[in-house]
Amino acid sequence: MSLSADRPDIIHHLPPDHLGRSLRADVRAGLTASPKTLPPKWFYDKLGSELFERITDLPEYYPTRAEREVLALFAAEMAAASPADTLIELGSGSSRKTPLLLDALGQAGPLRRYVAVDVSDSALLDARSELAPAFPDLELQAVAADFETQLHLLPRTGRRMVAFLGGTIGNFEPAARARFLSDVRELLGEDGGSLLLGTDLVKSPHVLVPAYADAEGVTADFNRNVLRVLNAELGADFDVMAFEHVAVWMPQEEWIEMRLRASRPMLVRLPGVEMDIRFHEGEELRTEISAKFRLEGVVEEMEEAGFSAVGQWTDRQNRYAMTLAEAS
Ligand code: SAH
Ligand code: AVI
Repeated sequence: MSLSADRPDIIHHLPPDHLGRSLRADVRAGLTASPKTLPPKWFYDKLGSELFERITDLPEYYPTRAEREVLALFAAEMAAASPADTLIELGSGSSRKTPLLLDALGQAGPLRRYVAVDVSDSALLDARSELAPAFPDLELQAVAADFETQLHLLPRTGRRMVAFLGGTIGNFEPAARARFLSDVRELLGEDGGSLLLGTDLVKSPHVLVPAYADAEGVTADFNRNVLRVLNAELGADFDVMAFEHVAVWMPQEEWIEMRLRASRPMLVRLPGVEMDIRFHEGEELRTEISAKFRLEGVVEEMEEAGFSAVGQWTDRQNRYAMTLAEAS
C-alpha cells in the first residue's frame, strides 16, 4: 500500500507493520466468517485511490457532485456558524472539495492549519501538492493514520473543525459508526469544536444501485482491487476476474452492499496468513456497506455521541446532506 515511513512530508502514525499485521488480522477474521467479509479500508492502495477518484467523475455516482454543490452553496454559512483555526479532515483522499471549506473558514476568521488524515499516502501526497500552491499561508499537515483506531493521535489544540466528507461514515457498520462518532467527540475534548459530516441520503434504488454498478465498470474494478491488494501483500493467488461485481440495495438496513461473487468453485492460497480458502460457485464475499441516511437520523446519532446540531444543508435535489454539530 506504499505507506512508507521514510517520507518526511507525511506524519506517520500507522505502525510500520500496519499493512502486514492489521491486514492479516482482518483477512483471517473476514475470510473465515460466514458470509465472508473484508473491511473497505483495504481498497485504497495507489490504484484503489485512483479508481475511487475515477468513480467520483462517473455520471452515475452523484454523491461527490452533490456534496460539492452543498459546499459551494453553504460553506460560508457553515464557517460562520462554527469558525475554526484548524480543519482536520478524516479520510481526506484527494481533498478535492476541501478548498471550498478552507476558503470559507479563512473568510470567517483566521485559519491556521489544515490536517489531512488518510491511510493512503499516495492520496495524501497528491492532495498536498495540489493544495500547497493554492494556500501558501496555511500550515498543511498530511497524517497517515487509521481513523478507526488512531484519532487520539491527532492535534488537540486550537479551535478545531473535524470534517468527515464523502459519505464515508456510511462505510461503517452501525456499532462502529457510533464508536467512531464518540471517538471524534473525545478528540474534541472540553474545548469545544465541531464536526461537519457528509451523508448520502436514502433514495430510490433506481438511483442508488447504478451509482454502485456503473456502466463502464469502474466500480467493479475498484471492488476487485481488494483482491489485488491481498495478492500483492499476502502472496495470495486470487483470480481477480473470476469474481463478479455485485451491488445490492438492502431495504431493511438502508444500505448498499458491494460483494464479489465467485463465478466458479475456487481454492485460493493465502501464504501470508497460512490459509487456503475455498469458495463455492456463486459464493459472495462482502467488501463494503454504504449506508444511506435520513436527515433526522443523522442528528440523532450525532447527539447520542455528545454533539449538538447547529445546521443541516442539502443539495437542491435533496440527495445528500451535510450536518454541522458542536461538541456539547
Ligand atoms: N473524503 C474524500 C475521499 C473519500 S474515499 C471524498 O469525499 O472524496 C474514502 C477515503 O478514506 C479514502 O481516501 C481512503 O483511503 C480513506 N480511508 C478508508 N478507511 C480509512 C481508515 N480506516 N483510516 C483512514 N483513512 C481511511
Ligand atoms: C468512500 N465511500 C463513501 C464510497 C461510497 O460511496 O460508499 C466508496 C465507494 N464504493 C463504491 N463506490 C464508491
